[in-house]
Amino acid sequence: MKKGVNFILVLYILNFDLIPAEHHVTGKKMTLSQYIELININTEIEVNMEIANIAVKDWDPHYFANFKELETLSLENISELPFDNTDNVVLYSNSINKFRCNASKIVRIGKKNLSGMPNLKDLTFNENNMVTIAMEAFEGNPRLKTLSLAKNNFKELPEKLVENLTLTSFDFDNNRLYKFPEAKPFLISKSLQQFSCSACGITHIYAETFSELPDLHTLILKENSIQEIHENHLPSKLHSLNLESNPMNVLPLKILINPKFHMLCLGGSRVPWSENNEQFIARYQNMKNISSTCQDHPHIDYKTQPITTTVSTSTTEKTTVEHATVNPALLDALIASYLLVCLLTEVVLILVFGSYVAKLLRSKSKEFDYAASVINPSDIYKIN
Ligand SMILES: *[C@@H]1O[C@H](CO)[C@@H](O)[C@H](O)[C@H]1NC(C)=O
Ligand SMILES: *[C@@H]1O[C@H](CO)[C@@H](O)[C@H](O)[C@H]1NC(C)=O
Ligand SMILES: *[C@@H]1O[C@H](CO)[C@@H](O)[C@H](O)[C@H]1NC(C)=O
Ligand SMILES: *[C@@H]1O[C@H](CO)[C@@H](O)[C@H](O)[C@H]1NC(C)=O
Ligand SMILES: *[C@@H]1O[C@H](CO)[C@@H](O)[C@H](O)[C@H]1NC(C)=O
Repeated sequence: MKKGVNFILVLYILNFDLIPAEHHVTGKKMTLSQYIELININTEIEVNMEIANIAVKDWDPHYFANFKELETLSLENISELPFDNTDNVVLYSNSINKFRCNASKIVRIGKKNLSGMPNLKDLTFNENNMVTIAMEAFEGNPRLKTLSLAKNNFKELPEKLVENLTLTSFDFDNNRLYKFPEAKPFLISKSLQQFSCSACGITHIYAETFSELPDLHTLILKENSIQEIHENHLPSKLHSLNLESNPMNVLPLKILINPKFHMLCLGGSRVPWSENNEQFIARYQNMKNISSTCQDHPHIDYKTQPITTTVSTSTTEKTTVEHATVNPALLDALIASYLLVCLLTEVVLILVFGSYVAKLLRSKSKEFDYAASVINPSDIYKIN
């Protein structure tokens, strides 16, 4: 009713200063209404709410249903969020379309837990300890478009998790996946356009991994352990691929020939020298419109002709051990050792030259008598 009012009241408790000492010193918890009362806000006009750093007592799933204008609810570091209510639904609200619940130690999302928010479009559960999620977790959220489950402990996901949604974007960064399941699709979705799984420990992409994502156009797999990727294992609509900071040693040579690519990031790859690789890299680095959005590592490291075999192999081994999954600074190491050699040579030269000059001066001072060689035999020219 007051939607026209451009009044967004942000309630954000940064620390405990606003909460009376006895509530935390004695370990007491508050109900949501006690908490809201304490803050003294008008539930009728609330559009955007953030609640952080409290322990809630007797969570009432219907509490937010009274906030008719509430569209965005962010919860962060709320201890003991009752993901074990007698009622299986955690929260009822027809108005909320963006729900965030970060860093609140949630381990699992069950079948009906989120079904009380039918208009949810954007959902974030970052930095929890999530390990499992029910295949039907989003059954009651048919409008979901954007999902983030980043920084959790998932080792796997039900492949049908988002099958019946029209989800377009999914952020799954920093999970403990280690590998995509072998010989089956990781996810099934006709609508998913953007998927990100950076720092997931991925080593390999199978032919089936993205085969059920026909609309996927942006794939971000930074900071994984991928060494090789086959062009024909990628979805046909893909136009943006970010593989920065992977130990890629085989380049996807056919990709750049494909004119539909908008973005390709291969920085941090270490590829052996070959004519094809050199041509590819020259082209890749000239196509600024393709690689301009690659920020972390704009360049591919590749061996030119090794200077001496012993130096280059020992440097390679060293960097491989130290940075198994991170970008090895092979070039940096080579430059550093080159500079060290220069420095040592310089030091040796200075020493040799210095001793030569010293010798010269010493012999000169013996032979050379100023007093004897000056015409005017004044006292000031005498050494003694
Ligand atoms: C999280 O909230 C608890 C109280 O519930 C507080 O003691 C703790 O400092 C908060 N942690 C962070 C990282 O803010
Ligand atoms: C979440 O769903 C699971 C399984 O459906 C249920 O056991 C659990 O109690 C639910 N949690 C909440 C907070 O409703
Ligand atoms: C939740 O986490 C995401 C990513 O870590 C962050 O961008 C967002 O600001 C967090 N939300 C809140 C309310 O802190
Ligand atoms: C998706 O919808 C189909 C048909 O309605 C249903 O059989 C299937 O169980 C649904 N999948 C999930 C994960 O809910
Ligand atoms: C990028 O630039 C090159 C020429 O520099 C051009 O041939 C190519 O079509 C451009 N690609 C895109 C996606 O704009």
